[in-house]
Amino acid sequence: MQDKVGNGEILVTGGAGFIGRWVVKLLLDRGYKVIVLDNLSSGSRANIAEFEGNRGFSFVEGETVDHGLVDSLFKEHGFQGCFHLAFHAKTQDSVDDPEKVFKSDVQGTFHVLEACRAYQTRLLFMSTNRVYAPSSDWAGITELHPTRAITPNEAYRIAGETMALSYWRTYGLPVTVVRPFDTYGPYQRFDEEGNVVAVFIRRKLEGKPLRIHGDGSQTRDLMEVSDCAEFVVQAGTSPETVGEILNAGSGRDVTIKQLAEIISGGEVPIEHVSHDRPEKGLEKLLCNYRKARDLMGWRPKIKIERGIRQLQAWVEEHGLNSR
Ligand SMILES: NC(=O)c1ccc[n+]([C@@H]2O[C@H](COP(=O)([O-])OP(=O)(O)OC[C@H]3O[C@@H](n4cnc5c(N)ncnc54)[C@H](O)[C@@H]3O)[C@@H](O)[C@H]2O)c1
Repeated sequence: MQDKVGNGEILVTGGAGFIGRWVVKLLLDRGYKVIVLDNLSSGSRANIAEFEGNRGFSFVEGETVDHGLVDSLFKEHGFQGCFHLAFHAKTQDSVDDPEKVFKSDVQGTFHVLEACRAYQTRLLFMSTNRVYAPSSDWAGITELHPTRAITPNEAYRIAGETMALSYWRTYGLPVTVVRPFDTYGPYQRFDEEGNVVAVFIRRKLEGKPLRIHGDGSQTRDLMEVSDCAEFVVQAGTSPETVGEILNAGSGRDVTIKQLAEIISGGEVPIEHVSHDRPEKGLEKLLCNYRKARDLMGWRPKIKIERGIRQLQAWVEEHGLNSR
């Protein structure tokens, strides 16, 4: 079984999404041929427009849950690697319609895994820091931190991780699981599903005060998307990472108050509003990425101040609704 991805064809599920399009770009830059499978439920053609016309790139609109389609793609291309990033975007959908999201995220993963097993394709499974139980650990969350699913959304991701790693242990399929912390950068969502960076940038552009819930002491570990893409590609191609779960994050957490100050730059006021869930105010989210650093020498390159400056410049040029 191959644990190193050579210069063959790669499948990126969810490649028309925010992080996916950066992973696709990096793979193309490194000379891989890339096929994107995406149902465009939260991604868009605009995100990948830059790659149309590149002979190494092709796009297939479709579902991971479509067993026949997944199988025919593997049959045609015999992928050397698969980066599986296609998951339902809205957490609330898993609460309102758990069956629909189960099909997309768990059955979809099963089809991808079975195809990887049949064609001996190396798999990178994209998870999320949201699988971790709340923490206030000053040394940061390591991969050994307990997991806890609050909504079906996290439960399905834990199921996917577990399924993927069982294929490594049972069949020797080379699998790596990545748990990224919150990621920001060009092409991220700025609609109601956007993260705190998106909300603050949108309000600043609208000339509105940046609103902090509670005292703003809760923290986030925010990683710039090019650092995230570099991590994902390295983790999915290095022999050292097979069979591992790896945290990806900046290793520095900022309080929501600091983030508001960075984004406002003194141009719009910052106001505090009362917290609807006071216990959330204590939350500390800091990634300990030492395992990835030791295994594959990865380190984040972009500090939050620079990343936010770059994102704001990008938004000024492209607007908020480029998806
Ligand atoms: N953005 C972050 O801060 C962050 C942090 C941690 C983990 N992640 C994980 O990284 C991955 C990518 O995140 P993102 O922010 O780019 O999200 P995104 O919503 O922009 O990308 C997901 C892509 O998958 C596609 N998709 C969804 N279900 C599909 C299905 N069943 N079949 C085919 N395509 C499907 C969507 O259309 C979209 O293009 C997700 O798994 C997400 O949970 C993201």
